[in-house]
Amino acid sequence: MNGYLKVENSPKLHGDMSLIGAKNAVLVIMASLILTDGKSTLKNVPCSDDVMQMINLLRELGAEVSFDQDEHVLLVDTTFIRKYQVKKEIMKRMRASILVMGPLLVRFKKADIALPGGCVIGARPINFHLKNLRKLGATIQIEGEYLFAKVEKLIPQRIVLEYPSVGATENVLMAALGAKGITTIINAALEPEVLDLIRVLQKMDAAIQIEGPATIIVEGGKVLKPVEYEVMHDRLEAGSLIVATAVTGGSITLSQAPAFMMDVFLMKLQEMGHNIEIGSDGIGVSLKATRYPKAVSFKTAPYPGFPTDLQAPMMVAQCLASGRAVIDEAVFENRLLHVQELQKMGAQIKVDGNRATVTGVDQLYGAPVIATDIRAGCALLIAGLCAKGITTLSGVHHLSRGYESIQTKLSKMGASIEYVESAVFDRHEKDCTKEYY
Ligand code: EPU
Repeated sequence: MNGYLKVENSPKLHGDMSLIGAKNAVLVIMASLILTDGKSTLKNVPCSDDVMQMINLLRELGAEVSFDQDEHVLLVDTTFIRKYQVKKEIMKRMRASILVMGPLLVRFKKADIALPGGCVIGARPINFHLKNLRKLGATIQIEGEYLFAKVEKLIPQRIVLEYPSVGATENVLMAALGAKGITTIINAALEPEVLDLIRVLQKMDAAIQIEGPATIIVEGGKVLKPVEYEVMHDRLEAGSLIVATAVTGGSITLSQAPAFMMDVFLMKLQEMGHNIEIGSDGIGVSLKATRYPKAVSFKTAPYPGFPTDLQAPMMVAQCLASGRAVIDEAVFENRLLHVQELQKMGAQIKVDGNRATVTGVDQLYGAPVIATDIRAGCALLIAGLCAKGITTLSGVHHLSRGYESIQTKLSKMGASIEYVESAVFDRHEKDCTKEYY
């Protein structure tokens, strides 16, 4: 998307909205299809730019892919995957491309790829991926930006992750499926999206169990079959829509929202004074916003803690709440870049390292702001809804990497958001974002 979003101060948003499939589940699930030979069908696949990039990657390897974007159905035939090399240009577009490494090692015993794109939210190294794939028997050489991995035979192991990295857990788990015998992954990430991957792998016939505390047990060596699977609904899109509604003082019902996976986030909204109702089986959330929100402090953490991906949107809600909120970003080392944009809109925020202290103000003001990553973009869009005057948001391509079209959903709920083509903004965006890919 070249251009910017023009966001007006919004009336109270209200409505019942449906949710797309979770980006962070579908990307790894698509990578996992490399483990199978044949035709798989994924349903509830969001039409976001990262999904398009993963489609390109699978096609580059030789898969036949067709995507019905209206029905959100993705057909992937992996029968003709013959390549284990991925071009640098494709790898650089998206961090999630590293997730093909484990499956390629299982299928070909080789993976020649490039280092994945760096990202503005932090250094995002892949040391946990490499260390533990090596432990499973892989030899990995890094030459410049290229990464050459091979393995004679994957060997089952007891893997201990020093941090429950989502991507490292997923990569190691998929590689372990090619190691005949039992691999245990200790201190594994158990984010709902990892669990969705596990459900898909189990449907493929993989033997995987989860045991406390945070241990995944994999019995590798089985032939995995193609699947038909419906991707989980996106808890992060749900959270984003909920915060957008809350800051406008409105009400929303998301009957598909996986509320049972959103406990800490929903608890914090309740502490702000918002009225939250959850469906009896833990599915579905309704929010009625309070007129007098109170500031709440929170700290991001691996699941089931407060999700880092909702830190930026939730910070916007604190900007207009009464009192002071202390927000600690403890997952990524550089995920407070939205702060300087919110400051341009009149927010009172002080940053000290990875801690942002927000003092609520009566009003935010529309300003030209720039999205630096997916969730920062969403946060600034939300800030535009509750700011006086017009906000112009550039860097919109970040939003479309992670959301199918959140602006359309917000517009359906009453927001006034217009996409404006602009060569000037286009140049500006490129200047500001070139290093992120
Ligand atoms: N880390 C390392 N070494 C590694 C791997 C991770 O030091 O080898 C560090 C990272 O630098 C970071 C922390 O560990 O500070 C957590 O990273 P993690 O590996 O858990 O994250 P990820 O797999 O790269 C996924 C999501 C992110 C989400 C995080 C945390 C996908 C495609 N991405 O990233 O989603 O924020 O988990 O939940 O699944 C987003 O959707 O906007 C997004 C960034």
